[in-house]
Parts: sequence; C-alpha cells; structure tokens
Amino acid sequence: TDRDTTVVAIDGPAGSGKSSVSKQVARRLGYGYLDTGAAYRALAWHALGHGADTSDASSVLDATGDFDFAISLDPDHYWVRVGGTDVTDAIREPRVTDAVSGVARVPAVRHTVNTLFRALITGSGLPGVVVEGRDITTVVAPDAPVRILLTAAPAVRAARRSAELTGHDSVTVAEALHRRDASDSTVVDFLSAAPGVVVVDSSDLDFEQTVGAVLDVIHTVVPTQ
Ligand code: DC
Repeated sequence: TDRDTTVVAIDGPAGSGKSSVSKQVARRLGYGYLDTGAAYRALAWHALGHGADTSDASSVLDATGDFDFAISLDPDHYWVRVGGTDVTDAIREPRVTDAVSGVARVPAVRHTVNTLFRALITGSGLPGVVVEGRDITTVVAPDAPVRILLTAAPAVRAARRSAELTGHDSVTVAEALHRRDASDSTVVDFLSAAPGVVVVDSSDLDFEQTVGAVLDVIHTVVPTQ
C-alpha cells in the first residue's frame, strides 16, 4: 500500500459482480484495476502446463520457480500474460478454475503473489488502483482507505453466473459455485467482513446501482474529482 496511490480494496465471492463492478469503478475514477484472482489463475495455468499436481503443495511450489507473470492495470485494456504468452482467455477455462483453489491454498504462493501485487500498485504511478480479490481488505491492503466486501445472496450469484455462462444448466452452475465457495473459504474467509470493512450487498441492485453504491462508499472517504 503506497502513499501516493490510493487503494480501493474490494473482496467478495464468485458471482458477486466484483470484477465487472471493480472495473467500472476504476474507469469512473480514472484509477487502475487489479484482478488478483488472475494471478492465482495464471499460476494454476502455468503449473498445469508443467504437469504439476495442483492438489500437491510441493508440486505447485516447484512450478512457481519460473513463473513470469504480467497483468494490465488498464480497465479498458485488460490482459494477462505468462512468460510472454497471452493467457487472458485460457485462465478462464474450467480446467484452470478447477485447479486454482489448490494453488491458492499454498501459503508460500500467497506470499509471493502478494509481494507482486504490492509492487504493481506501488509502481503503477496511478492516482489510485481498485484491487479486487478475496483477501485484499485483510491481507494485501489492510491499510487501504477504502475497504469493501461486495456480497450477494447465493441464489443471486448462481443466477448471474449461469447468465454469464450461456449453455450451462443452472443447477450445475449453482453446484459448481457452491463447491468453489466451500473450497475457497477454507483458504481465506471472504464471506464475512473484517472490522472496518463496508459491506455492499448487491442482491437487490442492478449493475449500475452497485457501481453507484461502491462509488458512494469511496466518495465518503476519498475526495475525488
Ligand atoms: O476471483 P477469481 O474467481 O478469478 O479467483 C480465482 C481463484 O483465486 C479463486 O478460487 C480464489 C482465489 N483467490 C484468492 O485466494 N485470493 C485472492 N485475492 C483472489 C483470488
């Protein structure tokens, strides 16, 4: 967390609208946007490419040795690269999504990516960065002036996910979401707000209303143009 770059920390579960909302908030403020989940996904992609067993911590750690990760902070031009290869779409594939919790649960991995995140924020030269993930309000940027937990009721999150993933049946999507919540929450508790973290519940809000609610929270703390 850097003195010159204002960090807006946003945590929340899958299907809360976190990514699209964070990106839009960044655009409105002229801030950067950092998708921390992409780093875990990129590392899972990299480990799978090395034939690593992503359920085994030492196998995952072996694959982190030559992990060369780059990510765009521009909310209008989002991309993710590993070793120069564009993996923006590849890291959303189901095989990566299935493997990512195994990668994210390794403490040394979390330590490494967190160091990377702080360097990206500090070195961004931007007035602010909206950083979204699961442990941003608690671990990555606990001193951020704005810390938000974006939530939504499980049924609402499942409905949003199935709308995103056309062609998937909603029961399967709900089950997959539930499984990933359960698996992810053994790594970090992202379903309850830490002290000082403002909860924004988007269950009854549409996209624009959610963006507005987040901007309202930011404007109470950070004077922006
Ligand atoms: O937000 P996402 O679905 O792209 O996140 C991918 C995975 O990474 C998810 O299973 C949880 C994990 N993650 C994490 O442990 N900590 C973060 N700050 C961000 C994501």
